[in-house]
Amino acid sequence: MGINATPSATPAAPPSTSARALAFDTLGAVLEQKRPLDDVLEGNPDRDRLAPRDRGFARLLVATTLRRLGQIDRIIDGCLDKPLPRRAAAVRQLLRLGVCQLLFLETPPHAAVDTTVELIAGRGGGEAGFKGLINAILRRVDRERAAWLERTAEPALNTPAWLWESWAATYGIERTGEIAAAHLREPPLDLTPKSDAAGWRDRLGATLLPTGGLRLALDGPIESLPGFAEGAWWVQDAAAALPARLLGDVAGRRVVDLCAAPGGKTAQLAAAGADVIAVDRSAPRLERLRSNLTRLGLNAAISIADATLWQPDQPADAVLLDAPCSATGTIRRHPDVPWLKQPNDVAKLTALQARLLQAALTMVRPGGLIVFCTCSLQPEEGPAHIDALLRNDAPVERVPIQPGEVGGLDSLIDTNGDLRTLPCHLSELGGIDGFFAARLRRR
Ligand SMILES: C[S@@+](CC[C@H](N)C(=O)[O-])C[C@H]1O[C@@H](n2cnc3c(N)ncnc32)[C@H](O)[C@@H]1O
Repeated sequence: MGINATPSATPAAPPSTSARALAFDTLGAVLEQKRPLDDVLEGNPDRDRLAPRDRGFARLLVATTLRRLGQIDRIIDGCLDKPLPRRAAAVRQLLRLGVCQLLFLETPPHAAVDTTVELIAGRGGGEAGFKGLINAILRRVDRERAAWLERTAEPALNTPAWLWESWAATYGIERTGEIAAAHLREPPLDLTPKSDAAGWRDRLGATLLPTGGLRLALDGPIESLPGFAEGAWWVQDAAAALPARLLGDVAGRRVVDLCAAPGGKTAQLAAAGADVIAVDRSAPRLERLRSNLTRLGLNAAISIADATLWQPDQPADAVLLDAPCSATGTIRRHPDVPWLKQPNDVAKLTALQARLLQAALTMVRPGGLIVFCTCSLQPEEGPAHIDALLRNDAPVERVPIQPGEVGGLDSLIDTNGDLRTLPCHLSELGGIDGFFAARLRRR
């Protein structure tokens, strides 16, 4: 039987300072204002007033709600006799957080229900009148949890249809199911050490991945980890660390890092001894790159410019282009991405990527290498660019990637010799982000 969406009372609103209140404000900002999750959290002064544990809980609660959004909404709708009125957007956000805690975060039922009801009571306005409805729905979901989980187990439910269809057409339905399943899991923390990977593995109690990076489970701020203050490592997904390595030995080489900020790949190139020029058009992001390099004790020349127009003083030995993209390969770490991006974003980014790639080709000397990469699962943002270049007789040839360059994992290399990682790869070790990279040599 459904539950009726009728308001009943209107109490006053206290300031929002608790972890759940932060989660509530954040979820609304992501889903209603279409703002990126981490920007919203970092820009909220309430977050700084919370203990690190509470901050962590707030992010986990919002992230898990976003990972399971389709499923959670199906459950909420199944409990309603009639749709929630438009003015009750906040009620839906609260229900989403309540259902998420009950079904996916192992929050004790009384805590999940009571704290959600307290939050609505504290909001004032028309929403507070939905207290009875929220209470009834959450109690019902708790009573019928096994049935709801069974009824909403379809793998496609938590992925917007346009993404599911694109992945199914590109990778097949079975792989798409595995990708979607990988998006449901909280990812581990990946670090790239500046040097002495085995030593830092031991000091951090980390796993040394076949691809060379370190992996650990962390429940707390990264600043507390050994090696942070001395700049021994930086945070970088294991897949994101692969493209820079495809340039081979860069010691003493002039390497242009295009679209460089916040600088994970710049740091890799600088640590490997390259003479790096990091180019990005965003001043605030370059400021982050600068402070990251300072902490790491690494150097790079920095240029703030539109990379479609910029040129180096002399042709580079190599160019790494990590083009802006839809970031659908990073949904594990950024579960807001599916709910923020639209197909027309992919179309706009694809056009920009093509211009950036054309510009990159003009920056490198004959015989020099170009690595083009994106953290996208969309074929338009990866292999389609390389196909188009080769079809149109651009002055480049593909230099196929060998398994030995990616930790011996030939499953990460496609039939063309390009890198194609998927979130379901290395699942036994906790997965990796989805990245595409192709290596080209300038003729
Ligand atoms: C995927 S991020 C780069 C991540 C970076 N390579 C790293 O490893 O840390 C894409 C970057 O492209 C930059 N960008 C977007 N359009 C650009 C353009 N036309 N010229 C230069 N940079 C651009 C953005 O500011 C953003 O920092």
